[in-house]
Amino acid sequence: MIKSMRKKIDKIDKEATALLEQTKTAEELEKVRVKYLGRNGAVTQLLKLIPKVALKYKPEAGKLANALKRRLEGQLRNKYDVLRKEKEERDLAIDITMPGVSGELGSIHPISQTMKQISRIFRNLGFKVVEGPEVETDYYNFTALNIPEGHPSRETFHTFYLDSGELLRSQTSPVQIRVMEKEKPPLKIVAPGKVYRPDATDASHSFMFHQVEGLAVDRDITFADLKGTLSVFVREMFGQETQMRFRPHFFPFTEPSAEVDISCIICGGRGCRVCSFKGWLEILGAGMVDPNVFRVVKYDPEIWQGYAFGMGVERIAMLKYGITDIRLFFENDVRFLRQF
Ligand code: DAH
Repeated sequence: MIKSMRKKIDKIDKEATALLEQTKTAEELEKVRVKYLGRNGAVTQLLKLIPKVALKYKPEAGKLANALKRRLEGQLRNKYDVLRKEKEERDLAIDITMPGVSGELGSIHPISQTMKQISRIFRNLGFKVVEGPEVETDYYNFTALNIPEGHPSRETFHTFYLDSGELLRSQTSPVQIRVMEKEKPPLKIVAPGKVYRPDATDASHSFMFHQVEGLAVDRDITFADLKGTLSVFVREMFGQETQMRFRPHFFPFTEPSAEVDISCIICGGRGCRVCSFKGWLEILGAGMVDPNVFRVVKYDPEIWQGYAFGMGVERIAMLKYGITDIRLFFENDVRFLRQF
């Protein structure tokens, strides 16, 4: 027994020393420790055999085995120190004067910026900024806005329908109804948000775009208030020299209704490609709230008057920044977005 033990000790000693020499990392070193000194490690097993050695040889076996254990422990410790020093040196090799990698700061999307700017102008005129849902019912998007089922006007505001019977709003005008249902007049609100229409995408059409809706209700609001408010808006938005004109139009929820143009901000009204040589650019629809709409929300049209307007944010941003293709807003090309 003592003979085979001597052999074993010798073998373990040589094997472990060789293994330690090859060890390159702390993880490998730990594996070596477990292999020999762990609970089922070779040296641990060896120590357990000592009681079985014949009495005569027991002191020798104990001495040899314990010496091996101590030697191995020492070697492991040394190797650990060596590896740690090596790592420290490697870490120091990093050039701390090299410029770091900085995170890139994003910017606010031009459409969000434009929407904020529009809202800010109206907030300064006493309007409250509110929002409504993008998933709407037929009632809010059409019926309550004086567009009954079968009315030809539904065609203009055609939209996407969901399986639930609801739809994606095709205009921000339903927010008018939602606000008036909840609040008592007088009130002044603007409602920015997304709208959807099943239009084929091209340079001036997108199936999703943004609008800002406006509504003011009070006891004696007139068309002059609408004109005054919008002329302040137009000059704040496009510059003090901007001209504005109203053209008669039809919207089901306003009576009378108008489309509002501004003098072309590219050519100043002389005529250019952007304004199709008309000198004017259409920017919004507006009018006096139709009494039928007031009746729907139980406002007495004999007491309350109001005006409303709605504008396309993309169109305003395109005019303001001289952008000729609406698709640029939605392609997420940072070369475009970075410019704002
Ligand atoms: N909802 C209309 C559209 O999407 C825009 C509009 C026109 C809104 C006249 C109004 C309004 O509030 O009075 O084309």
